[in-house]
Amino acid sequence: MVRSFLRDTDLTPAEAAEVFELAHRYKKLRPAGVLDALRGQSWGLVFFKKSTRTRLSFEAGIYELGGHPMVLQADDLQISRGETVEDTAKIFGRFLHGIVVRTFEQDMVDTFAKYSGLPVVNALTDLLHPCQSYTDMFTMIEHFGKGSEDPECIRGKKFAFFGDTACNMAYSLALAGSMFGVDVALCGPEEFRPGRELDVLFDSAGLEKRYSFTSDPREAADGADVFYTDVWVSMGKESEKAERIKTMSPYQVNEKLVALGSKDSIFMHCLPAHSGEEVTEGVLRSEKSIVFDQAENRLHVQKAIVSWLVNKNRSLA
Ligand code: CP
Repeated sequence: MVRSFLRDTDLTPAEAAEVFELAHRYKKLRPAGVLDALRGQSWGLVFFKKSTRTRLSFEAGIYELGGHPMVLQADDLQISRGETVEDTAKIFGRFLHGIVVRTFEQDMVDTFAKYSGLPVVNALTDLLHPCQSYTDMFTMIEHFGKGSEDPECIRGKKFAFFGDTACNMAYSLALAGSMFGVDVALCGPEEFRPGRELDVLFDSAGLEKRYSFTSDPREAADGADVFYTDVWVSMGKESEKAERIKTMSPYQVNEKLVALGSKDSIFMHCLPAHSGEEVTEGVLRSEKSIVFDQAENRLHVQKAIVSWLVNKNRSLA
C-alpha cells in the first residue's frame, strides 16, 4: 500500500514530527542548492482551483529536491472533456512518480491515490488543506520553540480561529492542532459551525478532539496565543459573498480582539488576505503578524512531506 498525504491524520504525530525535523533541515540547507532526493522523478501538479503559494512552493520545492515538476491546469487535461478521474490516475501512474492535486472534492484526491499507484499529496480540497495546517504547526514550533525545534513547545497553546469554521482550513487546523496538543478554539457564526464531517474525520483517525466551538469572539480571544483567520469567501462560494461578509463581520480579527489575547500572541493567516474584511490592515501589518514567514514555510514543509513519502514508500516496497 503506497503512502499518500490526503488527510492531516494520514501521518501519526510521530511521523509528522519526522517531517518537521526534515523541514527544519531543508530550510537550513536551502542555500546549499539543489538536492537529489527526487533525482530522476517527475511529479504532476494538478490544479482545478487557482493558487499562488501552493503552485510556487510545490514547483520550486520539487525542483529543489532534484525532481521535475509538471504543472497541469485541469483545463488543459482531457479530464476537462470527460475522461474519468480513475482513467486519468491510471495514466499518471504510467508516466510519473508522484502527484499533487488541488481540487474541489476530497473524493478526487482519494481516487487519484487509489488508481495511480503513486504517492498523492492533497494541495487543498473543499474538505481539508493539510499542507497548510502542517506548515502552520511547523511555523508555531519555530516561533514558540525559539530554536529548540521540539514540537512539545506548542502543546497547550491556545489557538483561536475566527470566521467560517465549517471550511477546509478550520477542519485541518482542528485536526493538526489536536495531533500536537494545541487547544483549538473555532469561533464563528452558528450557521458556519463545524459540521458532522469534522467529527467523522476525528473518529475515523481515532484522534482525541482538542477543539471547541464558540460563537463568542471574546471567549475565543481570551488569553489566545495564536489569532488565525482565513478569507470569508472561499473558492467556489463567490455567489454567497455579500451574505457571508455581513454574517462574519463580528468575527473580524482587529486590534480590540487581539488585545484580549496573551501578551506574546501572534497573528497567522494562510493568505491571500482580504484586508479590511477578515483582518484589519493594522493587525495584518503589525509586529505580531508572522504571515510571510508562515507562507515561506510552505516550501520547506512540503519538500519534507514529499521526500518523507518517497523514502517511506521505498522502505515499504
Ligand atoms: N494558502 C494557500 O493555499 O495559498 P494559495 O491559494 O495561493 O495556494
